[in-house]
Amino acid sequence: MKALTYHGSKDVRVDNVPDPVLQQEDDIVLRVTATAICGSDLHIYRGKIPGMETGDVLGHEFMGIVEEVGKGVTRVKKGDRVVIPFTISCGECFFCNKTLFAACENTNPGRGAILNTKNVRSGAGLFGYSHLYGGYAGGQAEYVRVPKANVGPLIIPAGLADEQVLFLSDILPTGYQAAVNGEVGPGSTVAIFGAGPVGLMAAASARLLGAERIFIIDEHPYRLAFAQDTYGAEPINLHEVDDPADLIIQRTNFRGVDASIDAVGFEAKGSALETIMADLKLEGSSGKALRQAIAATRRGGVISVPGVYAGWIHGFLFGDAFEKGLTFKMGQTHAQRFMPKLLEHIQAGELRPEVIITHHLSLDEAVRGYEVFEKAQEDCRKVVLTPGGPRASADAPQDKAAH
Ligand SMILES: NC(=O)c1ccc[n+]([C@@H]2O[C@H](COP(=O)([O-])OP(=O)(O)OC[C@H]3O[C@@H](n4cnc5c(N)ncnc54)[C@H](O)[C@@H]3O)[C@@H](O)[C@H]2O)c1
Ligand SMILES: [Zn+2]
Ligand SMILES: [Zn+2]
Repeated sequence: MKALTYHGSKDVRVDNVPDPVLQQEDDIVLRVTATAICGSDLHIYRGKIPGMETGDVLGHEFMGIVEEVGKGVTRVKKGDRVVIPFTISCGECFFCNKTLFAACENTNPGRGAILNTKNVRSGAGLFGYSHLYGGYAGGQAEYVRVPKANVGPLIIPAGLADEQVLFLSDILPTGYQAAVNGEVGPGSTVAIFGAGPVGLMAAASARLLGAERIFIIDEHPYRLAFAQDTYGAEPINLHEVDDPADLIIQRTNFRGVDASIDAVGFEAKGSALETIMADLKLEGSSGKALRQAIAATRRGGVISVPGVYAGWIHGFLFGDAFEKGLTFKMGQTHAQRFMPKLLEHIQAGELRPEVIITHHLSLDEAVRGYEVFEKAQEDCRKVVLTPGGPRASADAPQDKAAH
């Protein structure tokens, strides 16, 4: 079969690889009908995630048709159309029982990404996300093996196009969890750092939850304009405003927002020193977005961090966070926890995640998809790849009244 494979920094290729086969009784093999490129894939693409091997198949946002089922699979049957969460979870362990699916103790034979790990077990395995996370082949492919098929797959009712539901696999629950972690509710003020797909899904979710005022910060005018038009967010362009937190403080009665959402993560731009130090491996992450988030948030507020961080940050300003009495919530998304409810919101027309898609490409064009998304060319917000070519349903009408 064809699949998008890793060969090194900025070197991904569509290769022929062996077809996946059932390995465990509760596995399925899925025929992929739609898959997307995530900002998390860009960390891999830029060579920033250790534990990648040549030939590894990427992709953790995907859906399709159940092609083969192991004999222990009860939840789905051949022919079902399902969306797969990016987190592989057993459904039975200490953490799964608490619906902390991303912390599942039973699915990651890799070491995980904690540096000071002691003997802590690794969190959940992830599709297409390096051997730190289990070395599972990803879904930017014609077929993919899905383990734990009695826990992850969500059956999609007829009448919904693939692109309406594809983002249930990752970025929609991620944006939603970010807003929930930020305790966003009616009347909330929120600052979202990063207007990429996760920031946009956080904006949609914040609106759904009743936020009154949303600031959104990025360097790309076209992403900011979209957030303004679609979610009524107040855009702040990093190229025009040197210190967005200062502006936010001025616009919120010199208090700051109730919650800040860092939808940027460890490759945040803006600190030349941290970028150089990170390249020299003297610094684990850029703290630029996180420092801005701390500065923009009111006393007693919340910092919610869906953006991925790795290792340490020297310039964290923990004392400022202490003085303000801030709460921090973060981590990989417990996707399975939110998927059923978010599907209902999509069915009700209250969430329309597909409106962020700009590029409908075939799997054969995946390399171009990575280039365009990584460089933010062609006003790219989100790339969807379709094995076999773009589908007619791709051109769903946009409705700006809905989120
Ligand atoms: N927690 C999870 O489970 C989870 C799931 C999906 C994605 N993620 C992470 O979320 C982050 C965002 O993903 P995405 O798909 O939106 O990626 P993306 O790269 O498309 O978006 C990031 C955006 O942040 C902007 N940005 C860069 N530096 C900034 C700064 N200093 N201040 C404000 N904005 C800045 C960029 O211009 C870009 O538009 C990534 O780190 C990704 O790995 C986490
Ligand atoms: Zn992702
Ligand atoms: Zn588990």
